[in-house]
Amino acid sequence: MSSADIYRELILDYYRSPRNFGKLEKFDIDAHDTNPLCGDDIGMQIRVGVGRSIEEIKFSGKGCAISQASASMLTELAKGKPLEWVKQLSKEDIFKMLGDPDLGPSRVKCALLGMKVLKMGVYGYLGAHYEDPDDTP
Ligand code: FES
Repeated sequence: MSSADIYRELILDYYRSPRNFGKLEKFDIDAHDTNPLCGDDIGMQIRVGVGRSIEEIKFSGKGCAISQASASMLTELAKGKPLEWVKQLSKEDIFKMLGDPDLGPSRVKCALLGMKVLKMGVYGYLGAHYEDPDDTP
């Protein structure tokens, strides 16, 4: 089995049994967005913990195997990380996480939808809870 096959299997496995799929009862961040090319939609909810970390995270919605697997893997990667970590997350990180698959432009949008939602949610939260370092004694 080539490494491309292994990653393809992994993507299908996450699609069939998505980790962290569902909704949180208590959350601080709730964001969702749609892939304009197909209308598929992903939502993410996050509970913020001590030190502004991602204490709990779940995703929901519908979409193709790449979009669902990417969002699911991303929730696993993000869990326990500080919110600030999300800022430096890049599309290259997502492609690497998915095993650098050969994606056409429309599939790139599928792969990056989860990251877009995560960033929208976290940036919104950080903006609303901005702590000015000059304000701290
Ligand atoms: Fe809709 Fe991939 S085809 S997210």
